[in-house]
Amino acid sequence: MIHRELKPFPKDFLWGAASAAYQVEGAWDEEGKGVSNWDKFVRIPGKTFKGTNGDVAVDHYHRYKEDVQLMAELGMKAYRFSVAWTRIFPNGKGELNQKGLEFYDNLINELKENNIEPVLTLYHWDLPQALQDEYGGWESRQIIEDFTNYSIELFKRFGDRVKYWVSLNEQNIFTMLGYRMAAHPPGVKDEKLFYQVNHHANLANANVIKEFRKYVPNGKIGPSFAYSPSYPLTSNPRDIIAAENAEELNSHWWMDIYAWGRYPKVAWSYLENNGLAPTVEEGDFELLKEGKPDFMGLNYYQTTTFEENPLEGGVGAAEMNTSGKKGTSKDTGIPGVYKTAENPNLQRTDWDWNIDPHGLRIALRRITDRYNLPILISENGLGAFDKLEEGDVVNDDYRIDFIRAHVMSIQEAISDGVEMMGYCVWSFTDLLSWLNGFQKRYGFVYVNQHEEGEHDLRRIKKKSFYWYKEVIQSNGNKL
Ligand code: BG6
Repeated sequence: MIHRELKPFPKDFLWGAASAAYQVEGAWDEEGKGVSNWDKFVRIPGKTFKGTNGDVAVDHYHRYKEDVQLMAELGMKAYRFSVAWTRIFPNGKGELNQKGLEFYDNLINELKENNIEPVLTLYHWDLPQALQDEYGGWESRQIIEDFTNYSIELFKRFGDRVKYWVSLNEQNIFTMLGYRMAAHPPGVKDEKLFYQVNHHANLANANVIKEFRKYVPNGKIGPSFAYSPSYPLTSNPRDIIAAENAEELNSHWWMDIYAWGRYPKVAWSYLENNGLAPTVEEGDFELLKEGKPDFMGLNYYQTTTFEENPLEGGVGAAEMNTSGKKGTSKDTGIPGVYKTAENPNLQRTDWDWNIDPHGLRIALRRITDRYNLPILISENGLGAFDKLEEGDVVNDDYRIDFIRAHVMSIQEAISDGVEMMGYCVWSFTDLLSWLNGFQKRYGFVYVNQHEEGEHDLRRIKKKSFYWYKEVIQSNGNKL
């Protein structure tokens, strides 16, 4: 649809930015914090870019006041951050660490005093290592109880001030990288376990949402899903089936459970036929149905294009581009299901991520059509090599262009009838990219932090900072 006139952004639209504990906080072993799976994983040689880790990250733990002041200056309406489970329960359960609770208390209060709505993520990938050691973390159903108890502690403590909550961040990504590609902890490649782990995560997610209703009755909660809409490479029906396979196995398999508490039929049948379906216990589907979210959190970075992949001799899984050398990524696939293909209509970033603002509108419309839930864009942004110029200037016009085009797409989606809650750009400050170190930057605020050499961690407002400030001030009118 081409609209004659676009609808305005809602008055209470949450213009924001996002982060995650491990990627910003640092202070990895301070004030009673326990060891997370990431604290351990980054110490294995060869796992991260140039051995980078989050020991210091961008030192947000000590500099949160300065960071919140910058958010206030930007005029942000919302800040999405995650809580490090190991600050609350150093061993994942049992003994509670008051110092950890205090840190988030202070952060939340600081945000509220500056009229910034906190959006709290319960889990952004940093699992207590103690739970991984004891029972394999997400590999055991025991995680449901422990994740629920941890979450309840946060509901009780912060529920009076935090209205918006994200349950699991990108379950599809942390399980895929952790159990399919061995690129994230626990570094496993086991297709069957991947689906079992996901079933446990689905149950934990549902249980937490169910409990949330008791403790934060006026709050809103939902998962953040990394949705990459699938396109067929051509109008050849075989490519269209490949794209549908991808949509079913890579997206509906998670979002259907979140929204409806059931797995999509074609995907389930594929898993059964291939001996990959998870073990389901009595009562599981009842619980999954009870865990209805208030919104779908959408992390949107790109679309993916697919074509048919032969069963015999087809393309298998390939590693990602974590070097920032454009054009080094390879097509990846599942024989007999799909394989990725380069989309000739799209430009790519240095990490070979497709730049596709229209894909965001497509994502928003597909989610709306299928699930009829309001949507909070909980992440969207551009990872790039930024250059700090003379006089502490960063001219990131490419980031402005990227975000502008995506904001325009959101407005088109609103005009199409999509119910939008807000837009949290990834990220507020520069931060640690899990596998790409500090060289892949996303922030409105540059942080002088590097893999090597001088890094005093000072904060520098990029050109995009000033641009986004006007966007927020004009409620999206001035792009
Ligand atoms: C999302 C994650 O997958 O993408 C973030 O929720 C992550 O934690 C972001 O940093 C960007 O990914 P990357 O690999 O470019 O840092």
